[in-house]
Amino acid sequence: MEQVAVIERRCFPDPWSENLLREMLTHPRAVNLAAIDDRGHVLGYAGFQWVLDEGDIQNIAVDTPFRRQGIAGALLTALATAAREKHLRLLTLEVRASNAPAQALYLKYGYTPVGRRKNYYIRPREDAILMTWKMKEE
Ligand code: COA
Repeated sequence: MEQVAVIERRCFPDPWSENLLREMLTHPRAVNLAAIDDRGHVLGYAGFQWVLDEGDIQNIAVDTPFRRQGIAGALLTALATAAREKHLRLLTLEVRASNAPAQALYLKYGYTPVGRRKNYYIRPREDAILMTWKMKEE
């Protein structure tokens, strides 16, 4: 939890407080995953909460020294597996309009932009791009 809070503060201009992170990590309808090295250090984390058959990715971040090594991609793949196990129909997320690295990540892993939420973010104020990933019919 403390390691996640440190990465959260390093990665976001408007980081979640420790209380919000604790709520996220203990939410009854949530999947939360961390990428951890062999010494127990958290390198990155991601999670979604779900309602009925839709999951909403709340957070994904990888600590700066460990980026571009496929960690976020592995976390998204693991979230997709968890969503499939829970029979969810889709995963959605919001991303800052200026966050090109994250948008490139989501596009690579099959997310499609489906809308824009005006002034969704504060500190700094910015639109969100809404993206979704749809479960493939088996
Ligand atoms: N520029 C362009 N494309 C990028 C990128 C960058 N800086 N970082 C990731 N990508 C895209 C690429 O397509 C990449 O594939 P490639 O390396 O084969 O080109 C793909 O995403 C997978 O990258 P991966 O190594 O799995 O991502 P990562 O572990 O470096 O983590 C973020 C990516 C976005 C999670 C990381 O940069 C981060 O934590 N950013 C700050 C927090 C954040 O913005 N989170 C998203 C909130 S919506």
